Amino acid sequence: MDLRLTGKVAFVTGASKGIGREVAAQLASEGADVVVTARTAEPLELAAKEITDATGRTVVPLAGDMSKSEDVDRCVAATLEKFGRIDILVTCAGSSPGGLLEELTEDQWMSSLNLKFMGYVRSVRAVIGHMRERGEGAIVLVVGNDGLKPSYWEMTAGAANAADLNFASSVAEQYGRYGIRCNTVNPGPVNTDRWDGLEKAFARDKKVSQDRAHELAEASIPFGRICEPAEVASLVVFLASPRASFINGAHIPVDGAQRKAIMDL
Ligand SMILES: NC(=O)c1ccc[n+]([C@@H]2O[C@H](COP(=O)([O-])OP(=O)(O)OC[C@H]3O[C@@H](n4cnc5c(N)ncnc54)[C@H](OP(=O)(O)O)[C@@H]3O)[C@@H](O)[C@H]2O)c1
Repeated sequence: MDLRLTGKVAFVTGASKGIGREVAAQLASEGADVVVTARTAEPLELAAKEITDATGRTVVPLAGDMSKSEDVDRCVAATLEKFGRIDILVTCAGSSPGGLLEELTEDQWMSSLNLKFMGYVRSVRAVIGHMRERGEGAIVLVVGNDGLKPSYWEMTAGAANAADLNFASSVAEQYGRYGIRCNTVNPGPVNTDRWDGLEKAFARDKKVSQDRAHELAEASIPFGRICEPAEVASLVVFLASPRASFINGAHIPVDGAQRKAIMDL
């Protein structure tokens, strides 16, 4: 199926590695030009070069911290300056600490909310006026299944994700009339550095080895394995494409029907 993405311009946050990198790579392989952001310039530049080499599309690395409004606005302005438009926004720049209520600090709560919730709000806010003027746009927020399936050992992520879902529903309702679609994709455990960090936190809090934590994650998913980044990216890219033209305000799990309670000991 041709996803009709040739020549589209996409802005993907948190894209030097993990899910965001795979989203950028799949968008480019479908013919889109892509701007990728992350805080650390070197791996971001390498990822952009590798994707360009593999696809022949223009992939522009813009280093910036999506927990800072001025960085988000600067990266969006630079994208508009270079391409003249943004057709697609995908937000992946998120990182919430694992941990238990009595150990989590105020700073950890605030940094989770500042990046995983407010970082997504800032990114949408930075592109929405432009998309509204053009009368079209596709926004996909990569959120997480703990927004709807909470687990107490990742409560900062769960709270930020629940806020993201609510926010995305509001955006879908308010801006659908301007031709803008806003949807969320909600993975469970995905094979990235972020999941590795969450497994370590789980192992620490539950006093088990990381191998055991990984076994529990696999056992919680009927397929008996965790997800690969490409399996999340495929849905993101479809939702970002004109093929998903009537999908708006949807919150779609990509968690293999994970039963989180199985991870509880
Ligand atoms: N992996 C999972 O199991 C899983 C499950 C559910 C939801 N998710 C969500 O999916 C999204 C992507 O996760 P992932 O597993 O792909 O993470 P990852 O492999 O750790 O990659 C995170 C990316 O975001 C960038 N980033 C982190 N903080 C940033 C900031 N303040 N500003 C800009 N970029 C930033 C990182 O680069 P720098 O560090 O250089 O900035 C990196 O490129 C996150 O929102 C995560 O919560 C992941």
